[in-house]
Order: sequence, then C-alpha cells, then structure tokens
Amino acid sequence: MPKQGEIELWIYEKRLEYPVRVSQKDVGMAKYLITQYGGPDGELAASLRYMNQRYGMKNRKAIALLTDIATEELAHLEIIATMVHKLVKGATPEEMRAHGLGGHYADHGHDPFYVDGNGVPFSVMYIASKGDPIANLYEDIAAEEKARSVYQKLIDMTDDKDLQDGLIFLREREVVHSERFREVVQILREEASAKKFF
Ligand SMILES: [Fe+2]
Repeated sequence: MPKQGEIELWIYEKRLEYPVRVSQKDVGMAKYLITQYGGPDGELAASLRYMNQRYGMKNRKAIALLTDIATEELAHLEIIATMVHKLVKGATPEEMRAHGLGGHYADHGHDPFYVDGNGVPFSVMYIASKGDPIANLYEDIAAEEKARSVYQKLIDMTDDKDLQDGLIFLREREVVHSERFREVVQILREEASAKKFF
C-alpha cells in the first residue's frame, strides 16, 4: 500500500499470473505460438474487444466481468510474450530464418510482435462491437471457444512438457471465461423477460 501522502498511480502485480517455463529453445514453436499474441483469436484481440464492449453494457455484473476478463487477458499477453521470448532466446539469424522467422528477425529481431502464425499483422477487424449486449456477449463466447481451440492445437504441436503446462493453464482460463460470459447472457435474458411482466 502507498504511504500517506503518496499518490497511487497503478496497481500491478509484478509477476506473471502463471509461471512460464520452457525446456529448450524452439524457434519453430515460437512462430506458431505468436498467433496468441497478435492473431485473430489471440490475447490482444480478446483484451481490446472486452475493454471496448464494457461501454455498451447497462448491467453492472456484465460491465464488471468484461473489465475483469479484459485485464486478465493482458496478463495472458505477458505470458505469451514471455514464452516467445524464451523459445527464441539465443537463436541465430540462420535459425530464425530456417524456421520461417527470417522476416520477423529482419523487422523485430528477437522481440515478440503483434502478428499471427503466418506473420500477418494484427487488425482491429478481428474484433467487433455491435452496440447490442447479447450480440456482443455471443461474440465473446465464440472468441473464448476459438482461443481454447487454438491453445489445444498448440499443446498438440509440442512435446515440451513445461511449455504444455503453461498452455494448459491458458486453455483452462478460456473455458472459465466462456462459462462466465454464458452466465451473464442468462442474467440479461432473465432481466429482459422480467421486464415484460410490467
Ligand atoms: Fe479469455
């Protein structure tokens, strides 16, 4: 807690939501994993989608949930960046090139960047905001299910048990998020049908 008289600027937990371990360098895996950084079903898309959709919600539980999940997705973005960083650490330019990351290396070195598994840059067209709470929440449920599916594919693409452990954590969080969004849809539906009695 800040001392008296200090202005509190920000509350940020200075450690990852879940520890990241990788057993070995794997540039090829980094190339695919980066889609969860800047791809269509990635963590950046998720966070921006929910952060923006909060403003169209009237129900306080829906607003709170979107805020909670949007900020947790930023924590997941950090986890993905850390995984990518560890997977390419010490890779030579030749190794980056041999695994399809030659263009990435030329533009960004070993830094992560907001691209999908094919190097296509992030686009806001990945997300929507319809001014309609139910339409938005169904988009959110679909987004969570798609992210879960991508994590499963990534888990299947590696034999690295340490990396799999982190990916399983992220996959499970998508399942939890999907369930929470479904619950809010139910709350909004009940709210709407209760109003029809008056
Ligand atoms: Fe999520």
